[in-house]
Amino acid sequence: MTAAHRIAVIPGDGIGPEVIAAGFEVIAAAARSDGVALRCETLPYGADHYLRTGETLPEPAFARLCDQTDAIFVGALGDPRIPGNEHARDILLGLRFRLDLYINFRPVVLLHPRLTPLRLPDPVIDFVIFRENTEGQYRGSGRAEAVGTPDERQISEEIHTHRGVSRIIEAALSWAKTHGKSRVTMTDKSNAIPFQNIWGRLFAEVGDRYPRIAREHRYVDALAMELVREPGRFQVIVANNLYGDILSDLGAALVGGLGLAASANLHPGRPGLFEPVHGSAPLLAGKDTANPVATVLTGALMLEQLGHPAAARRLEAAVKTVIAEGPCTPDIGGKSGTREVARAIQEALPC
Ligand code: NAD
Ligand code: IPM
Ligand code: MN
Repeated sequence: MTAAHRIAVIPGDGIGPEVIAAGFEVIAAAARSDGVALRCETLPYGADHYLRTGETLPEPAFARLCDQTDAIFVGALGDPRIPGNEHARDILLGLRFRLDLYINFRPVVLLHPRLTPLRLPDPVIDFVIFRENTEGQYRGSGRAEAVGTPDERQISEEIHTHRGVSRIIEAALSWAKTHGKSRVTMTDKSNAIPFQNIWGRLFAEVGDRYPRIAREHRYVDALAMELVREPGRFQVIVANNLYGDILSDLGAALVGGLGLAASANLHPGRPGLFEPVHGSAPLLAGKDTANPVATVLTGALMLEQLGHPAAARRLEAAVKTVIAEGPCTPDIGGKSGTREVARAIQEALPC
């Protein structure tokens, strides 16, 4: 083995443990074939642990995640027994915020023409969403007044700082430049929400340093429409936290659904947090029917980030083969189970 990485794995809730169990074997196999060992430590945090102990992510565990891991991998968090979702917010958003993982990198790639629900003359969809991951409405800033009375007011503030907005715009432009892209689309809703105008100003300011990358702006409502009408024209989209969240599920639907959508939470130079875009899909849990592809492709993002692009490409190639030839899970038209699909991907790994 040429390298070993310490991976903290939080399988979490619902389908999380199943997609992790099946998907991680494939990810580890791809890593091994590149001479890379993944030393995984599984952490119990999630709904069951929270309901049993009241703990979400205890401080000592957080400290170990900071000091002793090369990457964190989360299956999914969310459970109908916890309608306020406080454990998931604490663990998932807590890690994003506290580790300052300001880039939520979410590729949207059509792996096979049959997977898109759109009737497209040229079925090529290949763009990346750079979602700001530490600010916006997600900080939970605000207050509630006169709760439970007819005068109740809930005030939710969105936060867009110079530092936060400029660094995600810079990340999107810089990625575009190094990946041969020619255009970046910034989206906001500054026609209705005045205190989003910082996005336009900083897009122009930071963008001036990237003269070869064309800049365009779309209001998020129009962008949603255009993504459905002509998804092939987009290359890189940069958005605030909330719009990036919503657009990433729309993007997933354009290319076959949440069972295929991967994501990485990054801060360059630091350990990242990797998680499929999908949630815990409670109705699918325990049925061996969830698609493991999102987890496997998220593993490819992790291996790439850990410095093993060849292993990442092998995972992607194996996924493509299996999507083209089967077996597939029901969400993309197949009849096979989570484990069978994961096994097939492992067998399809190119040598
Ligand atoms: P969801 O992503 O769990 O499910 C939405 C739809 O997509 C469902 O129809 C589900 O069947 C389908 N789906 C999702 N993943 C799939 C897979 N791997 N294979 C096949 N089909 C799949 O979203 P939701 O229903 O809005 O949320 C359920 C819970 O998950 C909530 O508690 C939510 O807060 C949480 N959530 C967590 C994360 C995360 O941990 N990263 C992300 C999104 C939602
Ligand atoms: C995601 C999820 C999370 C988010 C939820 C579970 C808090 O939807 O990762 O896309 O909104 O960021
Ligand atoms: Mn989401």
